[in-house]
Amino acid sequence: MNIVILAAGQGKRMHSNLPKVLHPVAGKALAQHVIDTARTLDPARLIVVYGHGGDAVRASLAADDIRWAEQAQQLGTGHAVAQALPQLADAAQTLVLYGDVPLTTAATLKRLLQAGKDGLAVLTVDLADPTGYGRMVRDAAGQVVRIVEEKDASAEEKTIREVNTGIMAMPTARLAEWLGSLKNNNAQGEYYLTDIVGLAVGEGLPVRTAQPQGEWEVLGVNSKVQLAELERQHQRNLADQLLVAGVRLADPARIDVRGELRHGRDVAIDVGCVFEGQVELGDAVDVGPYCVLKNVTVGAGTRIAAFCHFEDAVIGPDGVLGPYARLRPGTELGPEVHIGNFVEVKKSRIAAQSKANHLAYIGDAEIGQRVNVGAGTITCNYDGANKHLTVIEDDVFIGSDSQLVAPVRVGRGATLGAGTTLTKDAPPDTLTVSRAKQLSLSGWARPQKTRK
Ligand code: UD1
Ligand code: CA
Repeated sequence: MNIVILAAGQGKRMHSNLPKVLHPVAGKALAQHVIDTARTLDPARLIVVYGHGGDAVRASLAADDIRWAEQAQQLGTGHAVAQALPQLADAAQTLVLYGDVPLTTAATLKRLLQAGKDGLAVLTVDLADPTGYGRMVRDAAGQVVRIVEEKDASAEEKTIREVNTGIMAMPTARLAEWLGSLKNNNAQGEYYLTDIVGLAVGEGLPVRTAQPQGEWEVLGVNSKVQLAELERQHQRNLADQLLVAGVRLADPARIDVRGELRHGRDVAIDVGCVFEGQVELGDAVDVGPYCVLKNVTVGAGTRIAAFCHFEDAVIGPDGVLGPYARLRPGTELGPEVHIGNFVEVKKSRIAAQSKANHLAYIGDAEIGQRVNVGAGTITCNYDGANKHLTVIEDDVFIGSDSQLVAPVRVGRGATLGAGTTLTKDAPPDTLTVSRAKQLSLSGWARPQKTRK
């Protein structure tokens, strides 16, 4: 099978410099959704017809299995498909998809291909308001006769509610002949792909239709309004899949998945969370409201309180994180680690049962087990030019408001007194304090306001 994806249109109504087919739904370009679905059908040839914003479109969608056909001028959908003709395998079926219709399912396309096995098949849908679409004209016996565009339709034809979604499957050799005989003597002066339906009927070739499971499968994007509507529809579908699979969502209308969210059993997700890239939540993970997780793995039983932001991090089981925790790339937390409010961790490993519960910066650090990092602790990892490592061994206690000037090491079982500025290694099992001695001056008096 050949698949041709039409993506040459400009999308004027998007009011954007970005070509229409590159606008994202669920964090992924519209046309990329179409390509990803197309790939699951295992086509012999996958051709994208591009035009407007060609360089950006090609750069964004490039892949080894994609062939490109340029349509320099947009002279209609028939003209667009004709640009791909030289690259099509003649003996096979051709499936035409639109780069701005992202949510059609593979199951629906398979039904369409099946319906078109010995002829031409059109994916159609009945719309309450068919305005703007090409209408399916049928004869008294209910057989498809032709497709008429809105702008060319009679008043009577405009009352037809079954519309052409634009998605079609046809025998490639016949397609080549039909495209060669298309005329542009219509209201828009375009070469309509839809005219091949009338040609097929004239030649006695069977023309059949198939329908999608849901209207959303064939919705296209022409404006930011439609883009936003499609995003909500898609997110609702994803939320329903999560619910069906056993995830508890506080509100299926308030979750956004922009990538792949994998999960174990008894996972709960509160409102307003955003999951990007590859996220994996283990059994019984609990995610509080308004968290953003990007490329994160969370071990079973870990609880994440509200307003956390995690990126490129691996979190062990039974952790207690947040509220307001930030894990930056390269963070690895062992089992039962606690990271509390306003703690930032970057490129650091923190082993089992260690805690940093309040107001700390941990960057480029290796922290052992059962370490307590006091409030306000900072690893001074950056000297203005280079980053350096801080090593804190097992069972260390770091007093509040300490600074560890890297490279530096705190030996196993050591204690740092509060307010320590550590510039040399701290020996194990010893109290290290760097602050000045506390004085109490008995003869001292507060300054008095001078009278004028
Ligand atoms: C087309 C169909 C119409 C159908 C509707 C569904 C035709 C003549 N009409 O109308 O029956 O109901 O889609 O949405 O086919 N494109 C190109 N090159 C071109 C023209 C279009 O690549 O020269 C691409 C567009 O980028 C878009 C798709 O083809 O992805 C459809 O084009 P559009 O102009 O939106 O077609 P409609 O007039 O909506
Ligand atoms: Ca359209």
